[in-house]
Amino acid sequence: MNIGFLASHGGSNMQAIIDAAKKGKLHARPVVVISNNADSTALERARSEGIPGFYLSGKTHPDPDSLDQAILDTLLACNVDIVVLAGYMKKLGPGTLSRFTGRILNIHPALLPKHGGKGMYGIHVHESVIADGEKESGVTIHLVTEEYDRGPIIAQVRVPVEPGDTPEMLAQRVLIQEHILYPATLEGIATGEINLDNFKK
Ligand code: GRF
Repeated sequence: MNIGFLASHGGSNMQAIIDAAKKGKLHARPVVVISNNADSTALERARSEGIPGFYLSGKTHPDPDSLDQAILDTLLACNVDIVVLAGYMKKLGPGTLSRFTGRILNIHPALLPKHGGKGMYGIHVHESVIADGEKESGVTIHLVTEEYDRGPIIAQVRVPVEPGDTPEMLAQRVLIQEHILYPATLEGIATGEINLDNFKK
């Protein structure tokens, strides 16, 4: 199973997946990293891991259709089976979405369908969880569709919200679980324990 990553910033989830593959805990090969941010740590990580990295953005491809095509071509050229969004802040274009339907995963740092959708990214997610007085938050891995954070849910894990939590404290507790759940879910897909075809809309 060849994994292609799209990441905009730190790529700590991507690193957790790469590490799991290196340790033999994940039977998959990270084959490419695409970022819309030329200076992202994700691309730096790709370089130091010897994984081909590509900067593809609205700057390199001002026309959205040509950006979509460039992303799709890169994934196909690298024989990607599963596309893993790991903190990717852009929407994928229709070409990539339709060619990889049911094969694109995203991770969200809360229990979808709550605290998802437009504007719900980064620290805003955890602010929303705390503002709503939730007793628990968590991690969701879902298939990517045209609508933000609305694709079929593949895996979830719960994380308690502790009294006095700041959004940053909660984010840290959730991120630890993200780094466990993403590689484990991908291993489930690699071994066939999780069949993505069962989750198609
Ligand atoms: C994670 O919290 C993930 O849930 C969200 O973006 C963040 C990415 O973090 N989609 P990192 O780049 O993997 O460190």
